Amino acid sequence: MKILMASSEAVPFAKTGGLADAVSALSLSLAKLGHEIAVVMPRFYSVDRLRLNRLEGAMGVPVGDGEVWCAVYKTALPGSTAKNPVTVYFIDHEIFFGREGIYGTPSEPDFLDNPRRFAFFSRAVFQLCRKISWYPDILHAHDWPSALVPVFLKYGERRGGFAHTKSVLTIHNLGYQGIYSKDNFPFLSLPWNIFYEAGFEDWNMMNFLKAGINSADKLNTVSPHYAEETKTQAHGFRLDTVLRYRSGDYLGILNGIDTDLWNPAHDLTIPKPYDVKDMSGKAQAKEALQKEFGLPIEPNIPLIGMISRLTEQKGVGELFGPGYGSAYSFCKNMKLQFVILGSGETWCEHEIMSLSSRLPNFAAKVGYNESLSHLIEAGSDFFLMPSRYEPCGLNQMYSLTYGTLPIVRRTGGLADTVENYNQDTGSGTGFMFDDLSPSAIYNTVGWAIWAYYNRKQHIEDMQTRGMKTDFSWKKSAGTYAAMYESLTKEH
Ligand code: ADP
Ligand code: GLC
Repeated sequence: MKILMASSEAVPFAKTGGLADAVSALSLSLAKLGHEIAVVMPRFYSVDRLRLNRLEGAMGVPVGDGEVWCAVYKTALPGSTAKNPVTVYFIDHEIFFGREGIYGTPSEPDFLDNPRRFAFFSRAVFQLCRKISWYPDILHAHDWPSALVPVFLKYGERRGGFAHTKSVLTIHNLGYQGIYSKDNFPFLSLPWNIFYEAGFEDWNMMNFLKAGINSADKLNTVSPHYAEETKTQAHGFRLDTVLRYRSGDYLGILNGIDTDLWNPAHDLTIPKPYDVKDMSGKAQAKEALQKEFGLPIEPNIPLIGMISRLTEQKGVGELFGPGYGSAYSFCKNMKLQFVILGSGETWCEHEIMSLSSRLPNFAAKVGYNESLSHLIEAGSDFFLMPSRYEPCGLNQMYSLTYGTLPIVRRTGGLADTVENYNQDTGSGTGFMFDDLSPSAIYNTVGWAIWAYYNRKQHIEDMQTRGMKTDFSWKKSAGTYAAMYESLTKEH
């Protein structure tokens, strides 16, 4: 089958979170299954044009009541091979994408022209296929920035080469929907009746994701547990009704991880690769991590790591909220070390730096650092993810693969991938809690630290179990392929 992934992010080109990892790894796995895969994304400033090949001629994209012209570049997705190639196409437009930031900058977190930037991008997807005379069986959109792709397909583009094309929309995070003033609607070049028919209307605003959910031929989110949660009022971000309405076409498919990039046995970014048979590399990584963060080098003190976007979704209020967050208390009262790498909300960046200067066993780095994130996964004993909600979560799977035991809230994909420790039998792969409260986090961290000091064998068994679990994309890529096939058969 021919599949075109339309996404605002894909590693290694542009990434703010797991969406980028998921899109590239899924594409590579589908290619390995023998499908013809291409990815299309905007050419952000961070992507160096000199490393790409330019397609000849300019490309006109119909938006508003005219046309906007852009260039197209392409390159091979790193990790793909001549036998199973994945081509990435870049839509290059200086005014829309020639700036720092993917969706915004710290001073302007959501660019004012985002509705136009991503409407333009989604329309450009169709022009790209015409330009290269390559018409996919499936157009696969991801999250709100490309949610208009299924809308454009259903309301106007399903003709010519696209006559039999079907669309899939994957929801990686329901918390971001792309809700903007409906004054932007004319830019989509769709008649006003479609505003209502496609379900853009949202309290007199325009909701990209809602229209995408209504228009896509099939929908999915990134774990079975989250699929169920999103159909409830508590987790549906006001779209639970729409998702329940579409539940016959809505699946939960667990993300995998790219085991070429995230594999302790082949990881060149850590001091010494390791596996279950020889864990000495993990001890070396711990030492390097303590050094990197300026903590006392102590092999026998439990080290908790965390890598996160610092946003409410990740439970940072309950962890770092000044005056009530649990991190201060568990660092003060327990014999442990804590390292965190993250960026996001300003109050939280300030708070972790402040804790860093006040507590001798707490160290933080604000920023984004890919290779340091590998060292944290490898060098930590535990990995903390107290998420308020988590569609899938990749870090807990990276942790398990690196023999680092997750301490997580039982929600979304965390509930699907971590098995709670049973201290009587020693079974499980991590430590779980249900309530999102500072005391629940405190107590569960305490439980893990207790096990570290008092149940050494259990800890080792849990590490081995996690490291032996197969989190690769293979199985899930097959499930996506089956979903595509069910659609093409419909025709
Ligand atoms: P989300 O997509 O909600 O942020 P995931 O767990 O699915 O959560 O994916 C997060 C990804 O982003 C992981 O690959 C993680 O290592 C990475 N990441 C997040 N923050 C940082 C950071 N500050 N530096 C390096 N990598 C980060
Ligand atoms: C989102 C979710 C995260 C998921 C990732 C990849 O950013 O927050 O849970 O793992 O997308 O699907």
